[in-house]
Amino acid sequence: MAFPADFVWGAATSSYQIEGAVHEDGRSSSVWDVFSAWPGKTYNGDTGETACDHYHRYIEDIALMKDIGLKAYRFSIAWPRILPDGRGRINQKGIDFYSRLTDALLEAGIQPWATLFHWDMPHILQREGGWLNPATGDAFAEYARAAGDALGDRIEHWMTFNEPQCFIGLGLESGVHAPGLKLSAPDLIAAHHNHLVAHGKAVDALRSSRGSDRFCIGYVPTTRALIPDTEDPALVDAVRSAFFGYHPVAGIPWTLAAYTDPVFQGTYPADWLAANEQFLPCGWQTDLDGIAGKTDFCGINLYSGERLRFGQNGLEMVKQPSGNPQTANKWNVEPETLRWAPYFLWERYKKPVVIAENGLSLSDWVSMDGRVHDPGRIDFTRRYLLELEKAIDQGAEIPAYFHWSLMDNFEWAEGYKERFGLIHIDFSTGKRTLKDSARWYGDVIQSNGTILHT
Ligand code: FCB
Repeated sequence: MAFPADFVWGAATSSYQIEGAVHEDGRSSSVWDVFSAWPGKTYNGDTGETACDHYHRYIEDIALMKDIGLKAYRFSIAWPRILPDGRGRINQKGIDFYSRLTDALLEAGIQPWATLFHWDMPHILQREGGWLNPATGDAFAEYARAAGDALGDRIEHWMTFNEPQCFIGLGLESGVHAPGLKLSAPDLIAAHHNHLVAHGKAVDALRSSRGSDRFCIGYVPTTRALIPDTEDPALVDAVRSAFFGYHPVAGIPWTLAAYTDPVFQGTYPADWLAANEQFLPCGWQTDLDGIAGKTDFCGINLYSGERLRFGQNGLEMVKQPSGNPQTANKWNVEPETLRWAPYFLWERYKKPVVIAENGLSLSDWVSMDGRVHDPGRIDFTRRYLLELEKAIDQGAEIPAYFHWSLMDNFEWAEGYKERFGLIHIDFSTGKRTLKDSARWYGDVIQSNGTILHT
């Protein structure tokens, strides 16, 4: 079997990580501008102030995407660019940027896939409580409608939230990401519920905007994949239950099903409710009606996973030996991450599963021959894609894959230390260089995955 003929091969970025131009054309501050200016919060004090300067260099970047042969590009819209006050007044100059970007993508034959929230909340809304304040959901819906009205005649694919586990777990619980808070369990559960309500409202707003009859709308959580160590059916069943079960990985908000069940099934998982129902805001049962049943695809960001086997007390992690394959930021290389996680999601929700991010950080540099040789990225991606193909062979509907990332960029609290790109960026000059992996990925795309087997 092979990838379907119309498989969407893409690459992804997000606004704060690449755009720069943070003071331009009426953009207001986001929580990430404030957080990265806070001494000690990011590696080396790095900020997204200039980043890849994509705001000015998007034409060059789209030419590179065309060189690679990308079929689709996933980017995010910066809320503070188009609604600088968070709500109300629309900043036409901000809209114009995304409109020009969209036109240039379409002209290059590349499908635009837009994410509404990839973590850069307008700071002004954070001052009003951010996701702790249910009114933020109404502002988010206003923003969704403004984006839909302005771009919906040309953009069909939309995603509301990127990795809610991160902006809640890292931003509000451990405080290592913006806005840098350390909230209590009741507050975290309120923020969790409020963002789900906001998702429902944003989908309704998008569906009432211009061009919406063609819209395909997704929600994009992440998870650490759980992988059965063998194909023993009893083990696969046990791992599937654990995958959707209440097993905090880095605190409460990581539980995948507490994000996806409400969106795709209109329920909170029973085991999660048993621990957290007391913290949910009044009326949460009624809210579920507004959250559920309106999302077309399940996006998922997948990087690494844990292998599980049966031990003396049920499932146990298979310990990785020292010196096992790891990325530059020490994430285990586990190709079957791309087989089981999407497959389990497809089985449970019967919605198309879009791999909205997958990739790795390597310490790449420009060689003396002027090229960037990154055989590790080629090997990693090849192994992962071959596993994704197995999930498709097993019957999962997986229409699209987006490599993270199109280009090296501002890796949040890690600053510019981690290089995830297919394109190398020299951050002192802005110079772009296609890595070997970009050319290889172009061949994968051109052969619709066939060369993965050679
Ligand atoms: C994900 C984020 C993305 C990037 C990658 C490496 O958690 O969505 O912005 O940071 O990890």
